[in-house]
Amino acid sequence: MNIFVIGGGAREHSIIWSLKKSKHCGDIFCSPGNAGIERLASCHNLDFNDRKSIIDFCNENNIKLVIIGPEEFLEKGLSDFFMEKGIKVFGPSKKATQLESSKIFSKNFLLKNKIPTASSIDFSNYKQALEYVESANFPLVIKADGLAAGKGVVICENKNHAQESLKEFMINKKLGESGKRVLIEEFLDGFEISFFTFVDNNTYLPLGYALDHKRAFENDEGPNTGGMGCFYPSKKITNSVLKHIEAEIIKPTIKGIRNEDFIYRGILFIGLMITASGPKVIEYNVRFGDPECQTLLRNLDTDLINIITSCLDDKLSEVTIKKKDRTSVCVVVASNGYPKKFEKNFIIKNIKEAEQVEDVVIFHAGTKLLDNKILSSGGRVLSITAVGSSINDARKKVYLATAKLNWKHGFYRTDIGIKNL
Ligand code: AMP
Ligand code: GLY
Repeated sequence: MNIFVIGGGAREHSIIWSLKKSKHCGDIFCSPGNAGIERLASCHNLDFNDRKSIIDFCNENNIKLVIIGPEEFLEKGLSDFFMEKGIKVFGPSKKATQLESSKIFSKNFLLKNKIPTASSIDFSNYKQALEYVESANFPLVIKADGLAAGKGVVICENKNHAQESLKEFMINKKLGESGKRVLIEEFLDGFEISFFTFVDNNTYLPLGYALDHKRAFENDEGPNTGGMGCFYPSKKITNSVLKHIEAEIIKPTIKGIRNEDFIYRGILFIGLMITASGPKVIEYNVRFGDPECQTLLRNLDTDLINIITSCLDDKLSEVTIKKKDRTSVCVVVASNGYPKKFEKNFIIKNIKEAEQVEDVVIFHAGTKLLDNKILSSGGRVLSITAVGSSINDARKKVYLATAKLNWKHGFYRTDIGIKNL
């Protein structure tokens, strides 16, 4: 079966790496792809606004399955488009994507379905939002309603910070239309996990969880990023916590999706805060997480194409997910300056040497090939993954590999997974 994967991050690289292990895998096509994906797939720079050329591309290459990685494409209705054209697509409809693309929609969905979450209030009027923070308790969280590539959430320690953030979002339009409406939310104290479940139009099939490190620097300091590293498992996530999550969060979420009549065939990512009073939903995402996907797929022991095609036939109930019983750690290497301003086009050396370390697989993100050399071309550049018998074992391997890279223009955190040994 020929497959078309949309996206160009380490998440998509790890998806393609998993697909390639299946005996059902034919040729893989990817847009835009990256230097790592080019080793496994045929990469093309396609214009997704030109829908006719996309269909021509699918027909010319006998594409039987499309997998959409990033949320922007889902929000633009690309999944609905492929469905209309009769091409099987893994990724929910535009309507279902509102669970991620509008924080206010998502909060109303949570309340309607009585799913534990932070209390909140939404505003489309700047003055009213300002009045509210005048007498609010701090810290509190201000969230832009729309998609913001990880830049739409601010944890405000005091009134000044809240006033500035509201101005940035609602008046200065720092995030464009995404910040026109905001949600002001109760601050939740605890630790976060990212939980993933496959969803079809009949049922759901949990894949598992991972713990992401969102802040740019060691000890969880610095600005929020897309994710600087990830690990699995955590001793704190006992079977009883998992049972609680399934009963109180996953089941009512799936029921809510059915009640909305959403077409949802894809993966659902639930961001959870594990608080003293139990797990609460921070957010929904309608796609795999990055770097969670890289971390989880290293341990998947079931054919990913089987899972995905069963999902698209609404037959997830016939699939059992097997996972290798080992730990998994992912360290993200990013360009200096990320998530703010950074430069590109620096040669990264010794990736091959790093890949030689036992149990290590490297997934590319912002990389490109030029004259057989690998150059940086984005913020997050590589995901170095390792598996092991303990978190410590996987950490040792991952950092042995990372140290072999020869690239002065990047940085990585050395404390991924350290708190959970
Ligand atoms: P979101 O885009 O909603 O996932 O928010 C990004 C990050 O902000 C989350 O991963 C959390 O680390 C943090 N965050 C969001 N909402 C809250 C909250 N209510 N309390 C504490 N931290 C939060
Ligand atoms: N790592 C978090 C995300 O993919 O949104």
